[in-house]
Amino acid sequence: MNIITGNTYEEISIYAKNIIVENLRQHQSLLLCAATGGSPTRMYELLAEESVSQPDLFTQIRIIKLDEWGGVPMEYSGTCEHYLQQYVIKPFQIPDERYISFQSNPENPKQECERINNLLIKNGPIDICILGIGMNGHLALNEPDLFLNPHCHVASLSEETLQHPMLPEEDTKPGYGLTLGMADILQSKKIIILISGEKKRKITRLFLSRNITTALPASFLWLHPDVVCLVDKDAV
Ligand code: PGA
Repeated sequence: MNIITGNTYEEISIYAKNIIVENLRQHQSLLLCAATGGSPTRMYELLAEESVSQPDLFTQIRIIKLDEWGGVPMEYSGTCEHYLQQYVIKPFQIPDERYISFQSNPENPKQECERINNLLIKNGPIDICILGIGMNGHLALNEPDLFLNPHCHVASLSEETLQHPMLPEEDTKPGYGLTLGMADILQSKKIIILISGEKKRKITRLFLSRNITTALPASFLWLHPDVVCLVDKDAV
């Protein structure tokens, strides 16, 4: 794992943005797996600026949503869909045929996971996977547990995860999660994980201790040959 400590959130966001731009120059149709949440937001904003100054670079990029809150309407302001539309899909002008996305309120959540699984088999593997780390060490919505799931699945959400700042309204808490699995993530060619802020310090130190455990799903990233871990000073 290539661990890079930046002074600020801005610095690590610029670093991550530059890696993606460099890779896009080599491979314009790359499949980018997009996490949501506070960690990658600034990086997406910087990429959106690049898409204005270098629009040709973004005409083939493909996006897959990493995870989604389940049992809430797609339009709810806390969904990953809402976030990605705002920071990625609209600014990068991604048409439907270049976007793979879990529905947040499917009739049959298991079938929805199978649908995404099949699309990933057809369009994968992921070229670059953008990740954050949960306060409890989760990776996407792969929550700490005795066992982890390799592929897309319906996830039970922990109390800590339900406190995520994306979900401010008590009456619209999701009943479950929809997420890519550990193997889907670990089969990505390249992984970039962004970690920022003092509130992440405790879990970051555990993560960086290199002990691989299902109690801290992000620790499985130590098994991957090409992970860039961008962490700011407040988080270490
Ligand atoms: P954050 O979320 O980027 O908003 O901290 C990460 C996560 O909970 O997985």
